[in-house]
Amino acid sequence: MTTIPRDQWYVAAYGREISHELFSRTICGESVLFWRTAAGAVTAMSDRCVHRRFPLSQAPTRLVDDQVVCGYHGFTYAADGRCVAVPGQTRVPRTARLRSYPVVEQDSFVWIFIGDPDRADATPVPRAPWLDSPDYTTVSGMEPLAARYELLVDNLLDLSHETYLHGGYIGTPEVASTPIRTEVDEAAGVVSVSRHMDDAECPPFYARSTGLTGRIARWQDIEYTPPCLYTLHSRIAPVGSVPNPDGSDPDAFHVEVVYAITPETESSTHDFWAVARDFARDDQGVSDFLAEQNRTVVLQDVEALDVLEQVIATEPAGYQELSINIDTGGLAARRMLAALVARGSAAPAGAGT
Ligand code: FES
Ligand SMILES: [Fe+2]
Repeated sequence: MTTIPRDQWYVAAYGREISHELFSRTICGESVLFWRTAAGAVTAMSDRCVHRRFPLSQAPTRLVDDQVVCGYHGFTYAADGRCVAVPGQTRVPRTARLRSYPVVEQDSFVWIFIGDPDRADATPVPRAPWLDSPDYTTVSGMEPLAARYELLVDNLLDLSHETYLHGGYIGTPEVASTPIRTEVDEAAGVVSVSRHMDDAECPPFYARSTGLTGRIARWQDIEYTPPCLYTLHSRIAPVGSVPNPDGSDPDAFHVEVVYAITPETESSTHDFWAVARDFARDDQGVSDFLAEQNRTVVLQDVEALDVLEQVIATEPAGYQELSINIDTGGLAARRMLAALVARGSAAPAGAGT
């Protein structure tokens, strides 16, 4: 029984990862071949030749103009996945076609629709506009996680762990000690978790990047759009500073911390992370510092979640977790994900019995 919602958009890659070369990544258990056409469009199709399953990302398969020539016996595919040539005969079987996937390139990400492609158009692609906005400077990366994606969802929706797992980087005592407010917008499909610390220690991540010394106001406003997109709107300001009634906020530093949570398999995940800031935008030293710090923090989570995956995979059935107030966001996310799984596995509308 899968726990991965189908009929959903997932981040497959950063746009910069895909060029006019064959590139493979497993998304929700499916091996997908990506490449960029001469005109610049990203294509996504099954990474298994219809003939004898040879992975098309595997040499000596090659891209010739905008066609993929299988390196085993030469079946040749166009950019839409259709087979256009086979060896030894002129007739190409009508069914010779690779499964192709809907793709959207947006906000620096390549999004792929997994599931029934007929449902793609009616399903909005989540937005993370900061990542390629001229008003922000972004650093980003992706770390492989040997753990089920639900563990990363849990982790990101409960930031009290910053105090313990990320002490000395982004964690301070106030993160764990300040209560949260959780809201669920069922119609929009968003879980929000807010924690506003009005007088807090400034962790190195923000002290060195903003230059603020002393104590700070630190606001964490999470928006999670299950299953894939997570944004932490982080506001850092001198103690006592609040945004103006018109929404302007000149004394504050704003960081949009974006994660895309893409299941690779039932027990592994692509952990895409990005940090977009609206200050020190031309300062390469700040970019290098935030990239190195955030990657370190992500790897601290990866190490912990990889351990948890092993614990869960090997424990006897029936373990009962204990949840408290800090878990309300994570529990709301679990309910929404379960509903998406149930919906995605339902028979398509109009299907016969
Ligand atoms: S496996 Fe690809 S042509 Fe035979
Ligand atoms: Fe973390």
